[in-house]
Amino acid sequence: MIKAQRGTKDIFGEEAIIWQWIFENAKNVFQNANFTEIKTPIFEATELFNRGVGDSTDIVNKEMYTFSVGGVEKNETSITLRPENTAGVVRSFIEHNLNRQSPPQKFWYFGPMFRYERPQAGRQRQFYQAGVELFGIKEPTADAEVILTAVNFLKTLGLNNLKVELNTLGCPKCKNSYKQSIKKVLAPYLKDLCDDCKMRYEKNPLRILDCKNENCKIIFEKEEIKNVILKDYVCEECSEHFKELKNYLDELNIDYSVNKMLVRGLDYYNRTVFEIKSDALGSQSAVCGGGRYDGLVEMLGGAPTPAVGFAMGVERLYALVQKKATKKLDFFVVSDNSKEALKLTQKLRLKEKSAEFDFQKRKFSKQLEKASKTAKYAIILGEDELSNNFFSVKNLSTGEQNTIKNFDELLNL
Ligand code: HAM
Repeated sequence: MIKAQRGTKDIFGEEAIIWQWIFENAKNVFQNANFTEIKTPIFEATELFNRGVGDSTDIVNKEMYTFSVGGVEKNETSITLRPENTAGVVRSFIEHNLNRQSPPQKFWYFGPMFRYERPQAGRQRQFYQAGVELFGIKEPTADAEVILTAVNFLKTLGLNNLKVELNTLGCPKCKNSYKQSIKKVLAPYLKDLCDDCKMRYEKNPLRILDCKNENCKIIFEKEEIKNVILKDYVCEECSEHFKELKNYLDELNIDYSVNKMLVRGLDYYNRTVFEIKSDALGSQSAVCGGGRYDGLVEMLGGAPTPAVGFAMGVERLYALVQKKATKKLDFFVVSDNSKEALKLTQKLRLKEKSAEFDFQKRKFSKQLEKASKTAKYAIILGEDELSNNFFSVKNLSTGEQNTIKNFDELLNL
């Protein structure tokens, strides 16, 4: 038997209904906040991610689905299945001169991403992200708007108690002085760091702080290293930006904590970075990751444009909302007269009610069993009901049964 690839998943039945619900909530919240949808291709030129996501990241070094197409005689090109969507949205923003509209230019997306990672709970090779990207505003109002949009979306899913963690990486200037300090203090321990960190030490020492290797973590706990990590190294302007953002979040009653170890796994960030986490998710605790990337548009060939955004992992959202979102049908028609059952089901659907019936005229007890698993109400259409023109309606959560005389009354239940 041919099976789905490791780290991929079929989504159907109840799960598909919950996914649809997550999608609808994302769309409503994003559109209410004036983000418009952007759909970019699933594959892009490999160079976009090499340059955009950064060649010191795990994503570019180990996790990309990259292949060549065209062959030598047809201008062979290297393409990659998108591992994330910020680079693609930025490419599209530049290509279509989307900066011509007055800022902010605001986009949302929902779609699959691909990373060749070791699959485990909450980590897949094909996974979905729901995200937003906001261009053209350097003020911290944009950071606050993006974080607020993420929190609002989570609230619509009933997820009110997740932890928002925040940090500032500073601008390229302060980032650079921080990198030098980190390099200096880590130099004596370089030989004890993992191979990835040895590479990061050269290419992007800040990313060392993101390492999950237990040995490396022990090294970061050393007093002299901790002192450097925790020191406030950002310049006055960046520090003011961060302070203002925190003030906005306080005003909006958004609970957050500052985590100085939060550096994020992608190279394009500057100033604000944030993650939203849940303890219920085990080791893959982040449902949302984002931040500011003021240099990326220019780096990929556009005019200098500040930007900020986030992406949420939909599988992780699903794991958190699974129980809350179980959506039931409005009605299940229980009958041994398929023609009448089908007619009533159709009539209900035309009035925007979700309805289903039993296709096989099974015993009433079997039909009621199915109804109580899938619907809020069972409408019983037996011989008596059909010949005397009424409906017996059973509320499947209370067990209460009533007689209803006309169809319109069903619609008000
Ligand atoms: P990221 O942190 O790499 O950021 O991914 C964002 C979210 O996608 C994570 O918090 C997680 O919930 C989910 N995710 C990532 N990898 C996997 C995986 N292998 N399996 C399941 N879920 C996963 C970005 O992708 C940035 N583009 C976010 C951003 C947008 N920054 C600015 N704008």
